[in-house]
Amino acid sequence: MIINKFTDSSDMIFDRFRERESLNGLWHYALDQYNSFLIQEWYHEPRFDILGNSKPVDYSFDEWETMMLPCCWNNFDKTYLLYEGIMLFTRTFLYRQKSKNERVILKIGAANYVCSLFLNEKYIGSHKGGSTPCYFDITDYLTLENRIFLHVDSARRDEQIPPSITDWFNYGGVYRDIEIFRVPKVFIKDFRISLEPNSNFKKIRAAVTMSDKSPKKAVLKIKELGISKEIPLKDGKGEVVFTSEPELWTPENPKLYDVTVSCAKDEIKDRVGFREIRVNGLDILLNGKPVFLRGISCHEDDPDHGKALTDEDRLENLLHAKELGCNFMRLAHYPHSEKMAQLADEKGLLLWEEIPVYWDVHFSDKNTYNDAENQLCELIKRDFNRASVIIWSVGNENPDTDERFRFMGKLADKSRRIDKTRLVSAACLVNSKKNAIEDRLEQKLDVIGINEYCGWYTPHWESLPEMFENSDPKKPVIISEFGADALPGHRGLITDKGTEDCQAYIYERQTKQIAKINYVKGMTPWILNDFRCPRRTSVIQKYFNRKGLFSADRKYRKLAFYVLRDFYNSFK
Ligand code: GCU
Repeated sequence: MIINKFTDSSDMIFDRFRERESLNGLWHYALDQYNSFLIQEWYHEPRFDILGNSKPVDYSFDEWETMMLPCCWNNFDKTYLLYEGIMLFTRTFLYRQKSKNERVILKIGAANYVCSLFLNEKYIGSHKGGSTPCYFDITDYLTLENRIFLHVDSARRDEQIPPSITDWFNYGGVYRDIEIFRVPKVFIKDFRISLEPNSNFKKIRAAVTMSDKSPKKAVLKIKELGISKEIPLKDGKGEVVFTSEPELWTPENPKLYDVTVSCAKDEIKDRVGFREIRVNGLDILLNGKPVFLRGISCHEDDPDHGKALTDEDRLENLLHAKELGCNFMRLAHYPHSEKMAQLADEKGLLLWEEIPVYWDVHFSDKNTYNDAENQLCELIKRDFNRASVIIWSVGNENPDTDERFRFMGKLADKSRRIDKTRLVSAACLVNSKKNAIEDRLEQKLDVIGINEYCGWYTPHWESLPEMFENSDPKKPVIISEFGADALPGHRGLITDKGTEDCQAYIYERQTKQIAKINYVKGMTPWILNDFRCPRRTSVIQKYFNRKGLFSADRKYRKLAFYVLRDFYNSFK
């Protein structure tokens, strides 16, 4: 049995606010270190031989232990903290048809890294990528009582995105919602809406893609704007640009509008903000006004929940960013839950979202590129209607080679082609030979992200002003990382590495220096919270990266928190 049917962004279905039935809850599970499920085809459940005699089997399915999904198995039981490999999940569920010709879609919000679906003894398909959703049309496989399996393989592989070595913990599991939703035979598959760039904030573009070519029109309504607009469809697709002057969305005034689109027997809803983001010379303009992005980087990591953050975890991260005086957040290094962008839309925070093209990627491997491009397309399709998202980042800290330039340049071009309403960036390395901001990938970017650790990895402070002096970027720069490790509560001299005093001093020096540079238009220091990391084993780290301004449990603010907060408050 081989895993060979992979879904991609073209299989995604617009599902926000659709009525759904949750399959979250207790699933039976088993570790499958030797891949027995596939090799011995357990999903066929051969419990009896052809004469009907019971056979000795090596599985129990509904007598296996249970795990509450969604979750990361590493946090579920410390026996599995360091387990990387295959875990099997199974349960049964009842299905009764509600309307004639309905289609039934199974959505998995995220599973790390390859997730394969089996239903009623059949292999349905798989999804590759640990942070984006997958959708399977299971209509034709359903019976009254259904046996479902999820075969999840969290193994790290060099040819994957991310590759084997990263600076974060490799959580495994089905860690975002598992849901079923029903759509009519002909349904709205994709819906995009945005303020039309360069329209002086007076035009809105809306695009609809149907699941079938038959419908001839869809109807878009935005009641609060008095909009009821027909969208003519050809071959199941249509797009309109129309005049309207919505109240513009900003972090300070996150105005959202309720939108509905109906077509054939389907109707979808969304809540969207209208804003424009663009670059003009060295400026980043939000709704035509220069903005300085007062940000902070953030992993999707919690000591108890791993990557399976709860709504409370997400809200706490966002409110802590606001408490810092942020108007911006870098969701590093992979797509966070869509709930984060929805929350940022509601609460008013601009976002940088990123795909995990991280460090030493197999840049000359075609399959690796396809995986990266698909994750980018899935992220853009998932969050296109989120006003808070202003930047798509195509990677982080990648050594400059011809293959890397081709690979990431192609991703940047793809991003710009499928989304003309946002900026493209990447977190680049300082050109160490020249001690300058100079990376040929810049020509493919709208905004240059730079990770520099002056005062920490590069101890000599004079190298920071020198770097800025040596640089002459023609586009806005965001300092996408600076920082230092500090064990919460550990105090000492500003020269004592690992103390809060040293971290705070580095923030003081960095913010003072950055404030002087006219082409720096934002910063997202590394990082909001301490996070689990297998590479960090020193006595102050103990398998956590301690560059957070907060402790890992978000309960403790380090001295540097106050330094950055005072710096950002000086902007008001
Ligand atoms: C790098 C990298 C981060 C990492 C950080 C660090 O810049 O982008 O993922 O955690 O440095 O060294 O702490």
